[in-house]
Amino acid sequence: MSMVKIKKVSVLGSGVMGHGIAQISAMAGYHVTIRDIDQAFLDKAMDKIRWSLSKMVEKGKIASSDMQSILSRITTTVSLKDAVADADLIIEAIPEDMRLKKDTFSELDRLADPRTIFASNTSTLPITEIATATSREDRFIGIHFFNPPQLMQLVEVIPGAKTSKDTVSIALEYVKSLRKEPILCRKDVAGFIVNRIFIPLVHEAAWEMLENKASMRAIDAAFKFKLGFPMGIFELADYTGLDVIYKASKEMLARDNKVLNPCPLVEELYSKGLYGQKSGKGFYEYSKDKYERVELKQEEAEHYEPLRLIAVAVNNASWLISNDVASKEDVEKALMLGMGLKEALFTIAERFGYPRIVQMLSKLAESNKFYEPDRYLLNLIK
Ligand code: CAA
Repeated sequence: MSMVKIKKVSVLGSGVMGHGIAQISAMAGYHVTIRDIDQAFLDKAMDKIRWSLSKMVEKGKIASSDMQSILSRITTTVSLKDAVADADLIIEAIPEDMRLKKDTFSELDRLADPRTIFASNTSTLPITEIATATSREDRFIGIHFFNPPQLMQLVEVIPGAKTSKDTVSIALEYVKSLRKEPILCRKDVAGFIVNRIFIPLVHEAAWEMLENKASMRAIDAAFKFKLGFPMGIFELADYTGLDVIYKASKEMLARDNKVLNPCPLVEELYSKGLYGQKSGKGFYEYSKDKYERVELKQEEAEHYEPLRLIAVAVNNASWLISNDVASKEDVEKALMLGMGLKEALFTIAERFGYPRIVQMLSKLAESNKFYEPDRYLLNLIK
């Protein structure tokens, strides 16, 4: 079959990720259809796209005349059949539930043209397994964006076991056409590259609060001012959504029980419906469902030493390298472009000292194997 030229993109799901993916695709000149189950969700998504585009006009990133043409390339629908008609690429950004995704893709497989490429924006679910719900496993791939897709440069591209080379090339070309930076995730592992580091960190920070009585604001300020992340880790969890974090954690643990040390605080917030910014309350409180930052002060960072957080982050980064999921350069690039790190993770870790990091991990590993220092990290202190 000849290579498909992408002209029309359909995005399933109009939430945080779906509306952002639709927007940047329309900005790159594609005709886009967003599909959701309720018109009210779609109207809200269009409001968010208008807000984001106005911000970009305000900052001179796009001309105000572009805003109308971008919007004119986006249509919305509640009909799955209409959404997929003549789509060249379908990107799924619906909730992180394997059954739901498989059911949706199996229906799509019947409705869509056989040449249409299917992509999942899943943050953790195995691409190989989702693809089995279709008769086009060769034309199925993971294209994983980062929140907010409008601003984050990274897109992870994850081939499944049967994804064809052509499909990988098309996915890479599509990502580049959005002026984003694709990074190929060589193995379909739980959490891919960035979430293998990010999701365990949320639990680790929550343990520091729960077990070691560290203050939430001090942890966040240290994360920001001592480790150089653009947001505090709890702030980022709220921004990402505790529903997303909780479901991602469960899925990751189901695939690999040593992937993180689950802290009950995350489940508690999730079960109370405290999802973060989108629900008005998570670790912090917000004026409901709009972009809002937590004001953190540098002096608050003085009350917390983030050794355990950097130790867990660099250990998971080491795991990715020693298991050949990505090169060290790609892991570093992914963290900078996907999480906004100002400095390379291993450079930050070096400042704390690898021997101290390994010592801390070894102590923690006495009660939980998740912390066992990875061989790549151990080699650094030889
Ligand atoms: N579209 C357009 N503009 C936006 C926007 C959007 N979606 N979101 C925010 N902005 C605007 C803000 O309103 C702000 O504008 P003003 O200056 O007019 O107020 C401007 O962008 C800058 O925002 P901030 O002042 O908050 O400054 P910042 O420098 O911290 O940038 C950020 C914001 C890019 C979000 C940055 O904080 C960041 O990189 N945060 C980390 C995000 C991250 O780690 N994402 C990955 C999460 S993991 C994930 O997504 C994967 C998964 O599967 C779970």
